[in-house]
Amino acid sequence: MTGVARAFGSTVALSSVDFEVAPGEVHALLGENGAGKTTLVRILAGLDRPDAGSVSVYGQPVRRFAARDLRGAGVAMVQQHFTLVPTLTAGENLALARPEGRIRPRAKAARERVERLADRYGLAIRADVPAGQLSVGEQQRLELIRALDADARLLILDEPTAVLVDAEAERLLSVCRRLAEEGRAVVIITHRLGEVFTGCDRVTVLRRGQVALGGTPVRDHDRAGLARLMVGASPADAPPAPPATQPPIPAPTRARSLERLRVDGVSRGRLDGFDLAVAGGEIVGMAGVDGNGQADLEALLAGLAAATAGTLTLDGEPLPVGDPRRRVRAGVAYIPSDRYRHALAGPMSLADNLELGRGHRVRPARRRRDRLLAPVLRRWDVRTAGPAARASTLSGGNAQKLVLARELAGEPRLVVAAYPTRGLDPDAARMISERIVKAAAAGAAVVWFGAELDELFAVADRIVVLATGHAAGPFEPPYDRAAIGLAMAGGHR
Ligand SMILES: Nc1ncnc2c1ncn2[C@@H]1O[C@H](COP(=O)(O)OP(=O)(O)O)[C@@H](O)[C@H]1O
Ligand SMILES: [Mg+2]
Repeated sequence: MTGVARAFGSTVALSSVDFEVAPGEVHALLGENGAGKTTLVRILAGLDRPDAGSVSVYGQPVRRFAARDLRGAGVAMVQQHFTLVPTLTAGENLALARPEGRIRPRAKAARERVERLADRYGLAIRADVPAGQLSVGEQQRLELIRALDADARLLILDEPTAVLVDAEAERLLSVCRRLAEEGRAVVIITHRLGEVFTGCDRVTVLRRGQVALGGTPVRDHDRAGLARLMVGASPADAPPAPPATQPPIPAPTRARSLERLRVDGVSRGRLDGFDLAVAGGEIVGMAGVDGNGQADLEALLAGLAAATAGTLTLDGEPLPVGDPRRRVRAGVAYIPSDRYRHALAGPMSLADNLELGRGHRVRPARRRRDRLLAPVLRRWDVRTAGPAARASTLSGGNAQKLVLARELAGEPRLVVAAYPTRGLDPDAARMISERIVKAAAAGAAVVWFGAELDELFAVADRIVVLATGHAAGPFEPPYDRAAIGLAMAGGHR
């Protein structure tokens, strides 16, 4: 790949990236969240097209970025998120991925291919069970089997180990090694630096859509060096903080009150004995790489799940679990990582969305309700066709403003903000950041999950890194980018 560029609106995902992978090697592609790794490999797999630059595969220039063409050229990808059809078995999923069409008649042959590949590479799965009922590890292996079924010469794995426990991740890496020994080229995206050293030959590091390190042998590097390259080593390397993240109120002037949120030895999923304390008026930035317990912590704080061990309290009372109305009554504002799934009901009107979870038993008459809504939409600058519009018609920024308008109404005691500015244009992102900082200034304890360190540097009073289910830090200003990067990459293990 040469000079590859790709922008999404005002977001530059890739600037001018050169990337090369050779047959017989396992090539690690590293970078922070948002560095552009997925965008790069999606282009390589024909799932997206570059704005500029060129790509060639085994000497053949790619003229048309079409997944089918690239599959034909021997490129197969296991995507970051599962793409299996949950109601279909392994064989049926393989048959579906083939270009020939109908599934069932081909599923028997496909099932034999599943068993052959599973056997050959030691990728144990249950072939008769619908994919949705397989364990996460089995699903991952089935994704790989499906990629191998296309007889890939270039295999791309986008964060395959993020969802796996250590033993499974090691197994997967040894399969990658085997595939490289057979002469295939393997690209593996990972955040776990340990894996780079145990399982990979060369490493490319992306930072903010540019190549920070271009395909050099892994043995020339150490963990700290790679971590520094991922996050940028010195302040000079750090781009100026984007205007989106300037806090309207400098952190030190916010009145800090007593401890409000207390998380003691909490376990669930990947979280393993996690501790955290947040005072009123304080913003704690949660840094770290997806798949290290972030989703579990978010669900616990939002009361969507119960801890298997440990306790969570807000002002000394247990955090409510289960009924979202209890969360609302307890003064917990929740800005979820998936706003369309956990905050908004797409087919419902804006007005109804603002009422969600508020438990009003008597709905105001429509006209009165619309009248009440108008100033809210104005105050939050939600650009829409009107209060009766469906939430699903809002753009990302406007949808997020609607979520905040509801969640931050009425002085919350705790704000759980998961990647609140993700995917938003700079103006919307700035407004969202400012309003959350204001909620802290008004006395809320804020837990802010951030995808980008610069955003957290601008808003957080302290930063805690969540890596492999544990807390590392806290880190206090002035922030040491390299130390945080190393903690994010699991440097303590
Ligand atoms: N379809 C999209 N629409 C808008 N922005 C996108 C899209 N895909 C990626 N981006 C943005 O491009 C940047 C790079 O994203 P991505 O390639 O997914 O990074 P990585 O895989 O390294 O975490 C991010 O800022 C992300 O928000
Ligand atoms: Mg990605």
